[in-house]
Amino acid sequence: MIDILALSGSLRAASTNSALVAALARNAPPGCRVTVHDGLARLPIFNPDDEGDRTPSEASRLIEAVARADGVIVSCPEYAHGVPGGLKNALDWLVSRDAAIDKPAMLAHASPRSLYARAALAEIMRTMSFALYEDMALEIALLGKKPPEVERILGEEANQRAMREAVQGFMGFIRANAASSS
Ligand SMILES: Cc1cc2nc3c(=O)[nH]c(=O)nc-3n(C[C@H](O)[C@H](O)[C@H](O)COP(=O)(O)O)c2cc1C
Repeated sequence: MIDILALSGSLRAASTNSALVAALARNAPPGCRVTVHDGLARLPIFNPDDEGDRTPSEASRLIEAVARADGVIVSCPEYAHGVPGGLKNALDWLVSRDAAIDKPAMLAHASPRSLYARAALAEIMRTMSFALYEDMALEIALLGKKPPEVERILGEEANQRAMREAVQGFMGFIRANAASSS
């Protein structure tokens, strides 16, 4: 069983990115479990003085969840051409740990825009030594949609297939990554 941790970079109750990661969890292909980590709003602002023995419990929970996972999927909006502070803060808690190093990661996109944030997030995650899966990009256009419409779009057969195929591709990348590092 391949265990994947999914993070949404939006804290909005009606977030399209959170809906996308929830749908990825519901539609996980056989042999794979996708678990959504929802603690980003509870994370204190990263401070290097609070690492080691002083690491806050919510940060430890995130670090352990990433360390345990075989791979990480991130779906995140763009704010002012950048990565939302909540997600960047979560990633900052992982920078000086081993959890992210060579951890397979895939980006998913709920907006057809957000090109600056996509590039910035990829650069941040590569810099943190995540092994970024870049062969396939999952994009489901949910920008500006309200929850009932979001769920209808995510329920469409073509989108369900796209989600399964993206996660299957990522599972192959995770296996290949594990084989090459063993
Ligand atoms: C403060 C703020 C800044 C934004 N800046 C951008 C931007 O620079 N580029 C863009 O494409 N969308 C921008 N947006 C739109 C969001 O990226 C878009 O609504 C996204 O789909 C929201 O994701 P969510 O539904 O998961 O919350 C911005 C939205 C907010 C609230």
